[in-house]
Amino acid sequence: MHRPPSSAPSRRATSGRLRRTLLTAAVAVAAVAGATLPAAAHGGTAGRNAPLRSLAAHDGIYVGSALAAGTLASDSTYSSIAATQFDAVTPENEMKWSSVEPTQGAFDWAPADQIVSFAQDHHMLVRGHNLVWNSQLPTWLTSGSYSSAQLAALLKKHITDEVSHFKGKIYAWDVVNEPFNGDGSYVQDLWYNALGPGYIADALRWAHQADPKAVLYLNDYNIEGQNAKSDAMYALVKQLRAEGVPIGGVGLESHFIAGELPTDIKANMQRFTKLGVNVAVTELDDRVELPATAAELTQQAADYGSVVTDCVQVRGCVGVTAWEFDDGHSWVPGVFAGQGAANLYDASYQAKPAYYAVRSALAAGRRTSSH
Ligand code: G3I
Repeated sequence: MHRPPSSAPSRRATSGRLRRTLLTAAVAVAAVAGATLPAAAHGGTAGRNAPLRSLAAHDGIYVGSALAAGTLASDSTYSSIAATQFDAVTPENEMKWSSVEPTQGAFDWAPADQIVSFAQDHHMLVRGHNLVWNSQLPTWLTSGSYSSAQLAALLKKHITDEVSHFKGKIYAWDVVNEPFNGDGSYVQDLWYNALGPGYIADALRWAHQADPKAVLYLNDYNIEGQNAKSDAMYALVKQLRAEGVPIGGVGLESHFIAGELPTDIKANMQRFTKLGVNVAVTELDDRVELPATAAELTQQAADYGSVVTDCVQVRGCVGVTAWEFDDGHSWVPGVFAGQGAANLYDASYQAKPAYYAVRSALAAGRRTSSH
């Protein structure tokens, strides 16, 4: 028998622990916002034209998007689609260390608070992203010269400050982001080099102390299928569970190339959930060569549908989050020259075949077999 840690809900079809967690979160949100419980939190209407969030709720999972505070404030179409279609949000950059503490000791919580407030207004869960990473660190930290003991103290303070600030408002935290290389070795970053691999367990324990109810994740890319990197994550999670470290979930980022998805995503999800942790698809996008052809968008739709079906069918896969929902706000073209069109909507906010594939996969629930 695998018993999930108390902070980690395991999903059981439509009436599992996630359902109760979502309801609890929605009740808490409703209490904070002074609003009544939203229909979506009860499962909503699951008709074929229902928004994604209603269909996902019916399946006992959430469907989320990464969002940016600036775009929410300036673009009413963006904020309207976000509120209508999604019941979870991950701040794309606003909770990263360089955003919240650009100057040592001087915090700027405003953009992240804005997203949390948007989520509360629209009865959405919040995934906190992220507490420990080797990127988007403030320059005061990266340009300083600190001893290992000082770095440990700074990291503990950062985690405690941030998790405490948002205590009770965050459903799940990406505590450690992208700790592994492709070959399964640890990334030799600031944290690993100074503190050794134990920084991961310490970070999880510090986060748990600051908000015992948040579900704590390790999050990485290219761990969606079974390979050297996901094997390393699997071994780490197994070890952390054996040591009683408060690990609640594994985030499969899922930055895909159309037509190149691993074929064993479902099996990989299942091996993690058998360890007693949740899994979530945390940063889903699926890029194509530009300009996108109809054939590429058809392949992309099949990919999105397949990933969502995998999650729906795996007990313990609690939700799927898109990394921004429209092509106009994706990180992809800025990083992969000549590639893009990776999202559910185009840059004019027209729903793409991928959107309809996700809707169909959610509407089908556990009836469809994947792969
Ligand atoms: O905010 C500054 C702005 O002041 C400045 O004028 C501008 C000039 O370049 O840069 C802005 O910062 C950018 C920031 O996004 C906010 O827009 C950074 O340059 C840019 O590098 C940063 O990119 C983000 C990236 O993480 C950083 O590594 C992407 O938006 C974000 O989508 C991406 O997200 C990551 C996840 O956190 C972890 N997994 C992979 C994923 C994709 O790379």
